[in-house]
Amino acid sequence: MSATPARIAVCPGSFDPLTMGHVDIIERAARLYDRIVVAVLLNADKRPLFSVDERVAIIEDVFAGRDNVTVDTFEGLLVDYARQKGASVIVRGLRAVSDFEYEFQMALMNRHLAPHIETTFLMPAEQYTYISSRLIKEVFSLGGPIDGLVPPVVEAKLHARRQARLLPDARPT
Ligand code: PNS
Repeated sequence: MSATPARIAVCPGSFDPLTMGHVDIIERAARLYDRIVVAVLLNADKRPLFSVDERVAIIEDVFAGRDNVTVDTFEGLLVDYARQKGASVIVRGLRAVSDFEYEFQMALMNRHLAPHIETTFLMPAEQYTYISSRLIKEVFSLGGPIDGLVPPVVEAKLHARRQARLLPDARPT
């Protein structure tokens, strides 16, 4: 009798920075699939907050205890990368209706490009439905609290950035 092939899923994204919403989705995916490859897109944003290497290190740190989660980078078409990894599934998080149109377009384009790779959408816990990397950066740069919204390692790195004056402090003077 042949063994069932491992179900490999790719969780792609920019992760600049990793939020608790991302963590929630990756953990849910790790319970559903045999192996998760968290894939950080290379060079999408010309002025990222964290370098790709820093983002990979952060995700590795957060999922150090999860044997079935690995972290990698990719460029080019996501479906080509997924095929190369032997993944049959792409996992994306859906927070609100506002995410839907963009995600729907991407999922259908990816299906057009690679009909055998399925996109699955997972919903994060309610308390994370309003979090995005963009809002985290904005709130932090304006002096607002972000504890509980990002993993502690991200919070520590953001504070270190501010201390080293590598983050613009956008608070009104
Ligand atoms: O977290 P993000 O920034 O919304 O992630 C977007 C991502 C990385 C999933 C998307 O930009 C992507 O898949 N880029 C790779 C290029 C590609 O395959 N484009 C065609 C898909 S429609």
